[in-house]
Amino acid sequence: MRVAINTGGGDAPGLNAVVRAAVLAAERRGWDVVGIRRGYDGLFMDDGVVSLTTGSVRGITHLGGTILGATNRGNPFSFPVRQADGGIRMVDRSDEVVSRMQELKIDCLIAVGGDGSLGIASELANKGLKVIGVPKTIDNDLPGTTFTFGFHTAVQTATDAIDKLHSTAQAHQRVMVVELMGRHVGWIALFAGFAATADVILIPEIPYDLTRVAAKIEARWREGSEFAIIVVAEGAMPKGGEASYLEEVGKGGRRRLGGVGKRISRRLEELTGHETRSLVLGHLQRGGRPIAFDRILSLLFGTAAIRLAEQGRFGCMVALDAPTVTAVPLADAARATKSVPVDGDMVMAARAMGISFGD
Ligand code: F6P
Repeated sequence: MRVAINTGGGDAPGLNAVVRAAVLAAERRGWDVVGIRRGYDGLFMDDGVVSLTTGSVRGITHLGGTILGATNRGNPFSFPVRQADGGIRMVDRSDEVVSRMQELKIDCLIAVGGDGSLGIASELANKGLKVIGVPKTIDNDLPGTTFTFGFHTAVQTATDAIDKLHSTAQAHQRVMVVELMGRHVGWIALFAGFAATADVILIPEIPYDLTRVAAKIEARWREGSEFAIIVVAEGAMPKGGEASYLEEVGKGGRRRLGGVGKRISRRLEELTGHETRSLVLGHLQRGGRPIAFDRILSLLFGTAAIRLAEQGRFGCMVALDAPTVTAVPLADAARATKSVPVDGDMVMAARAMGISFGD
């Protein structure tokens, strides 16, 4: 058996642990493993496919990033190719992926990614490739798995940051607004806001009304707590309104979420009269070492992917159905988004403790 592994999309803490676990589990079965660099791009590069052995993955479990590199612009079904006139044309190179994999005598691809990369993997499976998916994203927005790896590390980073904001907010009697990642779901904001006892948590699943947020802030001042911490997910939106996007678009014309923290901070200062500052935690949430939970999940996922390959269960994604590691159809996982249940335990517990969702 010859297995290829790639890490596509944005990075997430735990990618290296998945790679190491898969390589060790495969080698113990006498299989060969190669790594494809930068998602699928490596297949089109001269030095883009590297042999992975116990030696080459030694000492990487605790490291952030990915030794294979990642890209979120490397869709082989719509691949940017520079033209003679300097322009860019999007070209379908998926057939080349399939033939390159045959040339390399790859029996199975382990695609470690989020919805974009797993969507690509699922389309490649439709073209006959034997694929197994591993769910990665700090956003935790993939259905079929209780958690994706990388999520808890992002939550820890955000929680630590919010803890630090408490003391400075209190010292200066300020309202601090912190904007967290998560795309169109509020998992990071909810978990970190709950863990760090924010006063208000704004998530896309519960559109907000800033007069309600202002009322919560004023209540705190009245009760003698003259500071407030507002956690806002980057995809949060006002009732009847839209999410905030940055003016500049990303490469490939992608609109990028951002700006909600600043927007609500200005308005809250007007509404309450209290000095309000905002910050964006940004890519800090994706960086650094995976915490123990994510390392464990990544190691479980990496070895489970090899087990599925051994059983011939292609077209699946490994998943956590806590406490069991299981498998779900890859196509299902790539198709939908897992949102925060607005009547779930954590939202209910937060409300019970007086945390406002701005509704
Ligand atoms: O999907 C992970 C994520 O970090 C999102 O939370 C965020 O919106 C996005 O990626 C940022 O992507 P980029 O690094 O391409 O700007």
